[in-house]
This record gives sequence, C-alpha cells and structure tokens, in this order.
Amino acid sequence: MREFILVACMWLHTFAAVVWIGGIVFLIGIVLPALNNHGGAHTSEVMRNIGKRFTPMANTSIGILFATGLLLLILSATGQGRDHFLYAKIAIFAVMASIHYWRIFDLPRRVARAESESQRSRWQRMSLSLVRVNLCLGVIALLFTAAAGS
Ligand code: HEM
Repeated sequence: MREFILVACMWLHTFAAVVWIGGIVFLIGIVLPALNNHGGAHTSEVMRNIGKRFTPMANTSIGILFATGLLLLILSATGQGRDHFLYAKIAIFAVMASIHYWRIFDLPRRVARAESESQRSRWQRMSLSLVRVNLCLGVIALLFTAAAGS
C-alpha cells in the first residue's frame, strides 16, 4: 500500500510540475513571440484570455505539488546527504507560489487603479517579467530536484 501511494504521489507531483513549468515555457517561448510577430497589437488582450484559462491549471498544479510533495517528504527515504537540495527546492517553490499569487490577486488591482496609461503598462510589463522570473526559478527547482536525486 505504501509503495502504491509513493508511486501515485510521484506521478501526480511530476505531472503537476510538467503542467505548471511546461505551461510557462509555452507561454514565454511560443505564445509571446508569436503575438509579438503580429505587431503586438492584441498582446495584452490575448494574454488576459490565456491567463483566465491557465491560472486555474497553475493553481491546481501548485496545490498538487505542495500536497504530494509533503506526502513524498513523509513517505520517501530522505536523509541521504542531499536533502539540502530538496529544502532549497521547497524554498524556491515558496517564492514561486508567492509571486504567482501576488500576480493574480494583487497586481490586477494595481493595474485597475493605475492613474495613467504609462503606469498601467508598467504594471503589465512587471506582470510579464514576473512570469519570466518564475520560469527561471522553475528551471532551478528542476535542477535541484535532479541534484537531490542523483
Ligand atoms: C517548483 C516546484 C517543484 C518542482 C518543479 C518539483 C519537481 C519534482 C520532480 C520532477 C520530482 C521527481 C524526481 C524523481 O523522479 O526522482 C520531485 C520529487 C520530490 N519532490 Fe518536488 N517539486 C516541486 C516542489 C516540491 C515541494 C513544495 C515539495 C515538498 C513540500 C517537494 C518534495 C519532493 C520530494 C520529497 C520528492 C521525492 C524525492 C525523492 O524521494 O527522491 N517538491 N519533485
């Protein structure tokens, strides 16, 4: 039974990581450049639309990563000398999740309250920069996962 729960957790955990980080890679690496190739006229409108669809997926992935990560911590054989990579990954996850929730809850309010068009576009640019930051952190989290498991 313990073995079954471990495999199920590892599967869900890995799947959630693929969905969240893979989604960001697709957004930054494919969608944004494609929109910019069309002059960027509809970029913010299309990105808002994509965000509405991707955000619930990202939220679910974050919840699954956290819950299955905790279960894996309890069930898996840690303490093999590489736990510092695992704890560093968890710290990175906390930063990524904070950035994600700040972007989806607080930033839209700031955009709505912006007093000028330039201030609004500054917040919107910051929103995209934060997605890029989360992409870098996600890649580092994967590197730490590999280091922890090697
Ligand atoms: C950005 C967030 C995260 C990513 C990308 C990520 C990625 C991964 C991946 C791909 C694996 C499978 C490694 C393998 O096949 O051996 C894994 C394992 C694991 N993760 Fe995460 N994870 C994240 C967050 C977390 C969090 C928040 C926790 C704990 C609360 C956690 C705890 C673990 C544990 C304990 C394992 C099993 C390690 C082992 O037994 O070798 N992870 N993670």
